[in-house]
Amino acid sequence: MRLDKFVCKSTALTKEQAIAAIIDGEIMVNGGVITDTATQVHENNDVRRAGARLYPRPFRYLLMHKPAQTICSNIDEVYPSLFNYIDIERPQELHIVGRLDADTTGLVLITDDGRWSFNITSPNKLCPKVYRVKLRQPIDENAKQLFAQGIKLQGETQLTAPASLAIIDEKQVLLTITEGKFHQVKRMFASIGNKVVGLHRETIGDVTLDVSEGQWRYLTSDEIKALRQQ
Ligand code: URA
Repeated sequence: MRLDKFVCKSTALTKEQAIAAIIDGEIMVNGGVITDTATQVHENNDVRRAGARLYPRPFRYLLMHKPAQTICSNIDEVYPSLFNYIDIERPQELHIVGRLDADTTGLVLITDDGRWSFNITSPNKLCPKVYRVKLRQPIDENAKQLFAQGIKLQGETQLTAPASLAIIDEKQVLLTITEGKFHQVKRMFASIGNKVVGLHRETIGDVTLDVSEGQWRYLTSDEIKALRQQ
């Protein structure tokens, strides 16, 4: 990781303060002063400030049940940020793994481990996300086949990756997708002439939502590992 990030993750310094400390020559790496903030350092490098060895804090992994009318952002905008529901130290270091729209509810993963979240969001990793979808019109009988083949969303040149559809009743389905294009589920149903009137994410990989709306918990080490190997 970059030296400025390492210093942030191992001290109480903000990013700006960490950069200033590095530029001012306060940080030693393996016995020498380093003033380049972008220098790559590894966890087992000997990084010191005022003689004291710095150790990065462990990554954090949370799941949350997002309520409607909240936004997947670190700051409040038109709606309040879902971080208002999470009483935790240094929330600004965390990011949301695969955003949901303001009106969508359900499972949201939150972490400060960028490599782990890439595994979940990158379409190449094929991590399945299951959405419970309520529809305005009865589901078209060809929808299952169309989604399995991939469909062209408005404004896109490539087809969507194969998605699977399980029909619960004529206006309620479970859709499993491995991508996360902008408003993907709503656009998929729009492209077959229907409209999503309710959207809720139930699972990501093997992780299932098991807390009530507005609640959160840390992921177990098995859940973290399973999503890393996804
Ligand atoms: N697809 C959407 O259209 N909206 C979401 O919030 C998530 C997936």
